[in-house]
Amino acid sequence: MTMSDTYDTPDTRDMLDRTRQGVIGKPLDRPEGPLKVAGTATYAAEYARENCAEGVLVGATISTGRVRKINRDVVMAMPGVLGVYSSERMLRRAAQGTAGEAPEQDVSKVDFPMQPVALVVAETFEQATNAAKALDIEYEDQSGDAQFLPDAADAEPAADPIKAGDLDKAMRDAAHSVDLTFTTPGHASAAMEPHAAVAEWNGKDLTLWGSLQMLTYNVAELADSLGIDPKHVHLLSPYVGGGFGSKLGISHEAVAAAIAAKELGRPVRVVMSRQQVFQSIMRRSETEQRIRLGCGHDGRLTAFAHEALVSNLPGESFSEPVTQASEFLYAGENRLLAVRKSDITRLTAGSVRAPGEAVGMQALEVAMDELAEATGIDPVELRKRNLPDEVPGEGTPYSSRRLVEALDAGAAAFGWDKRSATPCARREGEWWIGMGVASAARVNILAKAEARVTLTANGHVVVETDHTDIGTGSYAILGQVAAEMLGQPIERTTVRLGDSRLPSGAGSGGSWGASSTGSAVFLACEAIRATLAQALGCASDDLLLQDGKAWAEGVEPRPVTDLLSEDLTRTGKIEPGKLMEKVNQSTYGAFFCEVAVNAFTGETRLRRMTGAFGFGRVLNAKTARSQCLGGMVWGIGSALTEELSFDSRDGHLVNHDLAEYHVPVHADIPDMEVILLEERDPHASPIQAKGVGELGICGAAGAVANAIYNACGVRLHDFPMTPDKLL
Ligand code: MOS
Repeated sequence: MTMSDTYDTPDTRDMLDRTRQGVIGKPLDRPEGPLKVAGTATYAAEYARENCAEGVLVGATISTGRVRKINRDVVMAMPGVLGVYSSERMLRRAAQGTAGEAPEQDVSKVDFPMQPVALVVAETFEQATNAAKALDIEYEDQSGDAQFLPDAADAEPAADPIKAGDLDKAMRDAAHSVDLTFTTPGHASAAMEPHAAVAEWNGKDLTLWGSLQMLTYNVAELADSLGIDPKHVHLLSPYVGGGFGSKLGISHEAVAAAIAAKELGRPVRVVMSRQQVFQSIMRRSETEQRIRLGCGHDGRLTAFAHEALVSNLPGESFSEPVTQASEFLYAGENRLLAVRKSDITRLTAGSVRAPGEAVGMQALEVAMDELAEATGIDPVELRKRNLPDEVPGEGTPYSSRRLVEALDAGAAAFGWDKRSATPCARREGEWWIGMGVASAARVNILAKAEARVTLTANGHVVVETDHTDIGTGSYAILGQVAAEMLGQPIERTTVRLGDSRLPSGAGSGGSWGASSTGSAVFLACEAIRATLAQALGCASDDLLLQDGKAWAEGVEPRPVTDLLSEDLTRTGKIEPGKLMEKVNQSTYGAFFCEVAVNAFTGETRLRRMTGAFGFGRVLNAKTARSQCLGGMVWGIGSALTEELSFDSRDGHLVNHDLAEYHVPVHADIPDMEVILLEERDPHASPIQAKGVGELGICGAAGAVANAIYNACGVRLHDFPMTPDKLL
């Protein structure tokens, strides 16, 4: 059964209700959790291979130019050094924003400061580190030609702008309007587990333990980088300590480890330092955004313009899709949406959690707050008045959209009615207290996925796919779908992930993992159910499976194992159908936040935050909630502290570690509440789920910014809103 058979006709609506265990949605623990806490979940750097050599990457000390010569001799004479590699295929692969799209690359060219250009391999990590520091590389320094700041005049459209009506006239005629320019800085993914790879060859066959989000793509990328057939590449990534986009594509450590291991004829491990991850793995682009909104006296938008300037390295195709949610979220018949990209000599820009909405929504939601103030309409009400019946300019209907419910439920839980409409109304000692709201919105994507499910003759369920778990709950969720569908206890369900030899899952990215690979598991289970129904002598639609028993109306319950003479294995596949283009499927939510701003220091402390979210069927209430919490925390960081700082002289990253790149810690996040609005979206996927992985960040920083204004009356448009800007 493939998805296109079932998906375009949403006749899967009731399929999940055939079994009544209620396993799907339960807040079950992640089965790998205890392994991670006990330190027994093995991460890429931890695979012990016999005779493994250690590689350390060397970054370019110029910002642009060429490698002229690598003087290997001195380093080769150092203790334990086995080799210095900078082959034609090696090290040049930039971490990409979009898996599978590598620009043509000239191997001796340096595109950005600290770009890895060589790998030093030694018997021990210490020897390799020492030798890497001593490696003498001669460069042809062309840094003088580099442009270090976005130049709006030179920027090219990243895509065709969306235009409708007469924006200028609508702005002139509007009863109320705002015209605001925002800036957001670059962000780092900064996953807890640094990038690492252990490579081992057996003849022509490469096995690589890596930290990767998308194994099917990663096999193709690595094979391409090495110039070998993908069938010779075996990737293993069973546990991944966070990705946030930084591991969507392969990066230097994987290619370097593979090449050195081949040359040396022994396993090679390459682990990036925290600084190397910051310096050479992609960033989220900084943005400059101009937002113009115009509305009538009733607050209904007539003019809506969102224009953004982003950057990337010259020749890179990815551009942060800043206006993505602006395409469908609010009304306004006179529209302009445009993103332009400028070339800049900083490390590659790519997908960082919720590319587009993360920064686009945080600016838009501040603009909406300012428009609400101009109209005198409550900001929650203003948003509710501006939800269109169909996508503006497209006429596309929406699938499920629980934004009104999210705003209402969030407002009620938070106590929004206690907010003063005017700023500076509440003071406690030296702290100004204020409240802010923002909408959340994020596109929903269904990705191609395949999964294999086996019901063993003794009643055990095994789910297998090369899908990854980046800390998000894939192991738990995929097991829940199978346990639900096959009526077996969750304790008898095993999920195997992160092995490229298993069927090709969707991979973890773009919030699509659980709904897409979950749908493939669902369809594999449907096929198993059909076989069981046949064995029981009933129609597939009438089969009931629960607590390890099978029955139907008029057919006595029997243990499922009685129907099995051998293991029963089926594969489920899903692909996006044509319906996706006809229905806008997005995910929605609302943030409410209370901050305290110090009147003397300008320091902002978060006091509490509530988020309410609707994203289709909840597959696991605990992991979904955790995703929302994590997103909100990142939103708070975006609002208050997070910022990549580049030296304007040569484009090098100044704050290249977690001591200088400030993310919120526990003490910064006192009180968070998440409300999950259960819903079914039959258009989104056979399991009626959409994605939630990225939703919690999309707009969260706007709520914080709006609360700051409500607290102390200072309106800022440049993120992050650090004390120096507030005073
Ligand atoms: Mo995500 S930024 O697609 O991992």
